[in-house]
Amino acid sequence: MSDQYAVIGNPVAHSKSPLIHTAFARQTGQDLVYGRLLAPEGAFVATANAFRARGGRGLNVTLPFKGEAFRFATELSERARAAQAVNTLKFEGGAIIADNTDGVGLVNDLVGNLGCAIAGRHILLLGAGGAARGVIEPLLQQQPAQLVLANRSLEKAQLLAQSFRGAFEACAYAALAGRQFDLVVNATSASLAGLVPPLPPQIFARGALAYDMMYSEGETPFLAFARGEGAALLADGLGMLVEQAAESFFIWRGLRPDTGAVLKLLRHSNKDV
Ligand code: ATR
Repeated sequence: MSDQYAVIGNPVAHSKSPLIHTAFARQTGQDLVYGRLLAPEGAFVATANAFRARGGRGLNVTLPFKGEAFRFATELSERARAAQAVNTLKFEGGAIIADNTDGVGLVNDLVGNLGCAIAGRHILLLGAGGAARGVIEPLLQQQPAQLVLANRSLEKAQLLAQSFRGAFEACAYAALAGRQFDLVVNATSASLAGLVPPLPPQIFARGALAYDMMYSEGETPFLAFARGEGAALLADGLGMLVEQAAESFFIWRGLRPDTGAVLKLLRHSNKDV
């Protein structure tokens, strides 16, 4: 029987992970099957354990279970510990080995696919929820000149900065007036409500990249805003999605797939929807 993997979440029907991992497996000649697991709220552990008992080898974890997966793990990587959230589980004997590949997925998309250096640049991260927390450590590892995190609730941003021992500056949106950044990453959930964080005008430095960790078939509200504000480059989170998947695939199978080919395939299939 082929090795079994799946993405677990609620909802999960929309997930592109099966398409991505199936493409990776075909590309690298790996004998695996990758499906979707819908876990009822409150039944993450039961659903994951049942999958494990059926011989499942690994899971990707999506909303709203990344925190529960963190607590479910028996072994945590450094980056999972920093994120306090887990998106990749590997089942090996009795062990539940956990990692978080979201942050490295963002960095690999920025640096590898988009040619956007982070080292020495001025970076603004928007949001202080789970999505933002997951990418802080990998961004800091690239040694930006400055990482500023802005959030609607200043207190939440400050608490997050404290838990990273003040390794970045936390502020409210109003405190950004008059400042400019080379890279602005939207990690808020504002787009879900069709909204954009309240950024002051002229936040984008010359040549700046606006990056939305969300993606949608049309342009996201944040990227539409950034276009209007003159950001030089715009990118949605589809590349991050493919890159975090590639890192999970590497954890499970020890092989690095060609992400460029799969990203092209996804962009193409998006247009057909
Ligand atoms: P996630 O796990 O996706 O990060 P979350 O933990 O609920 O979700 O966090 C959502 C983030 O989006 C928060 O930083 C939130 O700001 P607050 O902490 O101030 O609530 C941010 N957010 C949501 N809607 C927003 C909006 N309309 N404008 C600005 N920020 C918004």
